[in-house]
Amino acid sequence: MKITYFGQSCFLLETAAHRVLIDPMISINPLAKHIKVDEIECDTILVTHAHFDHVVDVFSIALRNDALLVSNYEIVEYFKSKGIVKTHPMNIGGTWSFDFGKLRMVYAAHSSSFADGSYGGTASGYILEVEGKRLYIAGDTGLTMEMKLIGDLYPPDIAILPIGGNYTMNAEDALHASHFIDCSHIIACHFDTVPEIEIDKEAANNLFKQASKELKFLNIGESYPI
Ligand code: NI
Ligand code: MN
Repeated sequence: MKITYFGQSCFLLETAAHRVLIDPMISINPLAKHIKVDEIECDTILVTHAHFDHVVDVFSIALRNDALLVSNYEIVEYFKSKGIVKTHPMNIGGTWSFDFGKLRMVYAAHSSSFADGSYGGTASGYILEVEGKRLYIAGDTGLTMEMKLIGDLYPPDIAILPIGGNYTMNAEDALHASHFIDCSHIIACHFDTVPEIEIDKEAANNLFKQASKELKFLNIGESYPI
């Protein structure tokens, strides 16, 4: 199993049999100009919330790949009204066994609205169990006590955490989050795309190193085995 970073919060998770794309925002990301969005292949698209930096390429990629869209009820209904047919709505606390793995939708301390003002339900994260590993995809979120529930009940092997600050946790809070969720292997996201989330990656790395934790920054287009 491997994960490839496409910038901001977009990742492609490749398992033996499936390709799950998370929060696609590639075509308008100046840092991801070298990624050919029209060539991305996936069978599933997982969306954490409706903000444009997580959904801007959902429609085109879902249609071209005939991919299954998994998100909250409101986001699924929004894309159904635009013409996406293959969908699976969930809500916070729900779990479902998909053919790509067992997915739990969890709380995220954030908002969720579409660029046109449409209601995007509640922001969420996911816990995905696949190929014997447990992966936590936090989505956009602030540090929240709810993460202790994840650490107590579903501690992940690896977690994708936002660390850019301003709209989400910064590196300090992401380190607290890693303690809350009881996870030592963190992949960073939601940084550097716009000036207000530009971060000092070396300082963030040192912060995690001091706590004997791994904070991984992937280059855009880089793959990482998990
Ligand atoms: Ni957001
Ligand atoms: Mn965001």
